[in-house]
Amino acid sequence: MRILAIETSCDDTCIAVAKGGKTFLNFEILSSVVSSQVKIHQKFGGVYPSLAKREHEKNLVYVLKKALKESGLFKDKKRSNRTDKEFSLFKKIFRKEKGLFEYFIKFVQKYERPKIDLIAVTVGPGLEPCLWAGVNFAKALSLWLNVKIVSVNHIEAHIFSNFLSSDARKLVVKQKSVLFPAVALIVSGGHTQLILVKELGKYKILGETRDDAAGEAFDKIARILGLPYPGGPAIEKISKYRDVEMSKYRNIEMSKCRVSLPRPMIFSKDYDFSFSGLKTAVLYDYKKHPKRIRESKEYIAQMAREAQEAIVEVLAKKTIKAAKEFKARSIILGGGVSANERLKSLFEEKIDKMATKPVLLFPEKHLATDNAQMVALCGYFYWLKSDKIKNWKNIKAYSGLRIA
Ligand code: KG4
Ligand code: ZN
Repeated sequence: MRILAIETSCDDTCIAVAKGGKTFLNFEILSSVVSSQVKIHQKFGGVYPSLAKREHEKNLVYVLKKALKESGLFKDKKRSNRTDKEFSLFKKIFRKEKGLFEYFIKFVQKYERPKIDLIAVTVGPGLEPCLWAGVNFAKALSLWLNVKIVSVNHIEAHIFSNFLSSDARKLVVKQKSVLFPAVALIVSGGHTQLILVKELGKYKILGETRDDAAGEAFDKIARILGLPYPGGPAIEKISKYRDVEMSKYRNIEMSKCRVSLPRPMIFSKDYDFSFSGLKTAVLYDYKKHPKRIRESKEYIAQMAREAQEAIVEVLAKKTIKAAKEFKARSIILGGGVSANERLKSLFEEKIDKMATKPVLLFPEKHLATDNAQMVALCGYFYWLKSDKIKNWKNIKAYSGLRIA
């Protein structure tokens, strides 16, 4: 069977095509396309939902065509014509995505229906206007192709990204050993959640952020420091800079402004997080210094390093605490922030000191950030269980933070 997966929960337009057999291990990615909007949102230092939705509307058909072509499922010639009944239903589905409707109609009028058996789409959590673009696209495709839709939770998909691995251009599902119960830390630009994974499909949220998500903290701090968006990779990169070439004079001056940031809620009894205070602390310190200091590479590198340490220490400390309490056999990371090398090395250090030594799983770097491959795998998992499979009329997007 062939799955077409769609992911538009934030600013990336992602479509993947996958092939499934009879078991979880008979899964293979045939193609995966990600169209990033980074350049558009860079100007603002963050994602603007209405702007991101407009971009999804522009990109979806193009990304679909590319993903179908790369998977070998694209059919050029058109034999059958659309019916008027379909046309009016498409119009109804896309009543809030007029731009996407135009592109979609042109596509279905021109090309033959590809052989797809199931559509998987991210329904939430995420930015609601963006989610709706993907969900309505999935609905229209489901009607056109006469196939069912499986609704996928974005956080759960990030958990599933750990079971994919690259093998040349193809991806295969990694062998699942005895990993459960697990504790999963999903950290991205939109979410920070600590989840008890009793087994795949059975979850309990242990804690989440009370304000900014971890990735959002990276993005906002980067903006204060004049670093580009997305802030996480920029902070990670500059934090590796060591001030070896500093003059003696600058060294003395810099030593007077050593930065030290709080570790918010690190000792709180619950599993919640809070990162908005960090951004304020960075801003306060930044404003305290004269321009020549705060705009020097030494100061920015030092502040970036300290901010990264503060974020990863809180994340790791609470996750390890949960792993001990729930006797986790593995710790699962996911989401854009899980691409951070320092986060992973800190987890390795901490796990090394534990008697039980849970397995540490983290996605390959290109699978840590948003992609549709993880959506395809999650959808495939539910298809095997005959669960969450719906008719297009019953699919809805939601922005809330619930999982599964
Ligand atoms: O999962 P993702 O692609 O999108 C959301 O669902 O939000 O995550 C994007 C977030 C951004 O905030 C970005 O700054 C952060 O992940 N990020 C990182 C790194 N790479 C991406 N944060 C820290 N270190 C990184 N290497
Ligand atoms: Zn994400």
